[in-house]
Amino acid sequence: MRAEYDPWAAYYDWIHQGLPGEAEFYILRALRRGGHTLELGCGTGRVCLPLAMSGGDVVGLDLSVGMLAECQEKRRLAGPLTGRLHLVQGDMRRFSFARRFHTIMMPYRTFMHLLTVQDQCECLTSVRDHLASGGEFILNLWAARPSVTTEQVRKTSTRFRLAGQYPVPSEGLLLRHFHRVRIDEAAQRLDEDHRIEEVNLMGSVQRRRLLHLDRVWVTPREMEHLLCRCGFEVSAVYGDFEERQITNDSTEMIWVAMRKN
Ligand SMILES: C[S@@+](CC[C@H](N)C(=O)[O-])C[C@H]1O[C@@H](n2cnc3c(N)ncnc32)[C@H](O)[C@@H]1O
Repeated sequence: MRAEYDPWAAYYDWIHQGLPGEAEFYILRALRRGGHTLELGCGTGRVCLPLAMSGGDVVGLDLSVGMLAECQEKRRLAGPLTGRLHLVQGDMRRFSFARRFHTIMMPYRTFMHLLTVQDQCECLTSVRDHLASGGEFILNLWAARPSVTTEQVRKTSTRFRLAGQYPVPSEGLLLRHFHRVRIDEAAQRLDEDHRIEEVNLMGSVQRRRLLHLDRVWVTPREMEHLLCRCGFEVSAVYGDFEERQITNDSTEMIWVAMRKN
């Protein structure tokens, strides 16, 4: 079965460059803790690859064969790693490894791809079952609060808007990214269409792709309830990757949790 991210693989690294300080935050925390790390939804390896290059022992799990192939190619280009990286195609809602991990991480709002409460709980239960004693689960997601979601609803659009432009010098291309978002407030769901245009040096569009993403938003209290229900104790919640407190202006929430004994 084709995963939602398969058609994204060729464009992902150009368009999704991550959040400020994000990769460094996860990498430093995992290296400090040591032992084995698992990244759920590792994608093209934006976090797990530099972690393995810095000496970490990492398993990267992702549903998308296309995203994993990109990661594999980057790993080949990186040459011998100081640490270890093992890539696995699988579903973060139900996974099974013979080992436990000292750090399990889910960067870049990946949790928002779990569309139902059942999916969220299955994933969290699998995480809890794979955490080593004293191990840490770290994830970040969009800090959905009424004022922020109202702003999103305002942006609901049936028309595509330009979201960004990205030069790809090696291909002599400019990628133009447009998107439109429909919001289902009751279901807390974002139904996103993305149009990517590959524009050549003459300014002509030589290829157009229509991609799709479905995500749900989670409020801070919901996240706390979910973690608690699935057997975690929250050790910290931050509003950014410099570990500042979450406030009414935070756009991200970063949760650090441990297994409740
Ligand atoms: C926003 S991307 C994040 C990729 C990477 N962690 C990063 O920081 O760049 C979300 C990733 O989660 C993966 N994903 C979505 N649903 C999944 C699932 N049920 N199981 C495993 N991976 C999933 C997607 O294929 C995609 O690579």
